[in-house]
Amino acid sequence: MPTAPAVEPFDAVEVIAAKRDRQRLTDAQIDWVVGAYTRGVVAEEQMSALAMAIYLNGMDPRETARWTDAMIRTGGRMDFSGIGRPTADKHSTGGVGDKTTLPLAPLVAVFGVSVPQLSGRGLGHTGGTLDKMESIPGWRAALSNEEVLDMLGPSGPGAVICAAGSGLAPADRKLYALRDTTATVSCVPLIASSIMSKKIAEGTGALVLDVKVGSGAFMRDMDTARELAGTMVCLGTQAGVTTRALLTDMSTPLGLTAGNALEVRESLEVLAGGGPADVVGLTLALATEMLDAAGRPTGEDELRAALADGRAMDVWRQMVRRQGGDPSAPLPVAPETEVLTAGEDGVLTGLDALKVGLAAWRLGAGRARKEDPVQAVAGVELHAKPGDAVRRGQCLLTLHTATPERFARAVEALEGGVTISPAGSPAAAEAVARREAGVVLGRLA
Ligand code: URA
Repeated sequence: MPTAPAVEPFDAVEVIAAKRDRQRLTDAQIDWVVGAYTRGVVAEEQMSALAMAIYLNGMDPRETARWTDAMIRTGGRMDFSGIGRPTADKHSTGGVGDKTTLPLAPLVAVFGVSVPQLSGRGLGHTGGTLDKMESIPGWRAALSNEEVLDMLGPSGPGAVICAAGSGLAPADRKLYALRDTTATVSCVPLIASSIMSKKIAEGTGALVLDVKVGSGAFMRDMDTARELAGTMVCLGTQAGVTTRALLTDMSTPLGLTAGNALEVRESLEVLAGGGPADVVGLTLALATEMLDAAGRPTGEDELRAALADGRAMDVWRQMVRRQGGDPSAPLPVAPETEVLTAGEDGVLTGLDALKVGLAAWRLGAGRARKEDPVQAVAGVELHAKPGDAVRRGQCLLTLHTATPERFARAVEALEGGVTISPAGSPAAAEAVARREAGVVLGRLA
């Protein structure tokens, strides 16, 4: 006998109408709509309408927590309880030149805390960790759950950077793609639930969020960044994950490179005890938070020593080797470069993160659609940072690509992105002060 179609407890139209009319959704409505959307019972156009209603009318903390939980329950959860070590992960809301995951994961692992860094690919002007790692010859991003556990346990390096499996919060995968095409991404409850559903499902014991603020970030102003950070810290804490957040500057790129192989090269400098001060500073700040949140407080001097004496580099080499990569192989280098120079003497007071990110993207470092390929070699190298004195004619940026026809559009993207002010001017003094203050602007626990 044919089975009767399941009777659904709600109708999508009534849930959409409730949020459109500024009502709070009940737990049962949220559980149903998230689950039914994932099963294909709620149509894409209905979920778009609901996402827009949420975008316009918001969700309160109870609704956001329930929405997060409902997204987690659409998939499986990882369980690291068997590995015999505490776990800590870091999530960045995305920025230009942000390669900190690469030195951070092995550095934290040196101190006995395992780091399950389940990562994604880049979309738009911000780079993705997996795209960077894939510029290492032979390295593979996809691992089974058993391989992940093996990497994190006592017989592995204690850290893993790999692709997040499709079984974690599948509702988010579907919903994020929909939000991306319906102008509903930049909404605090939706961003917070999207990020935290994946991180909670991943099973980490401690989580440190790096919430970027500035032109190159999702959050352009401090107030919204603080609201997002606070919402995510609450969601993590309620779910039993020790969660902290740092608010960090993304008005200018982090470090001196933006682009996949270029960023791996700079990460290797940090792992060898060198590297730009802002990348090292942020790596140490995040490692300090992760180790503290995981119950292994560690001083900055000890962290610096593990970079200087090669212990973090040893873990890195093991991590890369275990995923098929050759840590000694030369990184690919762009066959074509173009140099941009300073137009006047003075102090570099602005180097806009968004414009540098767009230039790197147009050179081939990023993708416009999920399925697009990326160039390992493409990107932008910076030869000066805000606060540095510069001379007319001095090399400021080198553009790298395998396809030189991309140079013109990249140069266009950079228009207005470089500001030079007279030495001794208030703008010059402010740029120097900002550089000296470092990239960490605030902290939430
Ligand atoms: N990153 C995510 O994973 N989700 C969002 O909604 C925004 C950024």
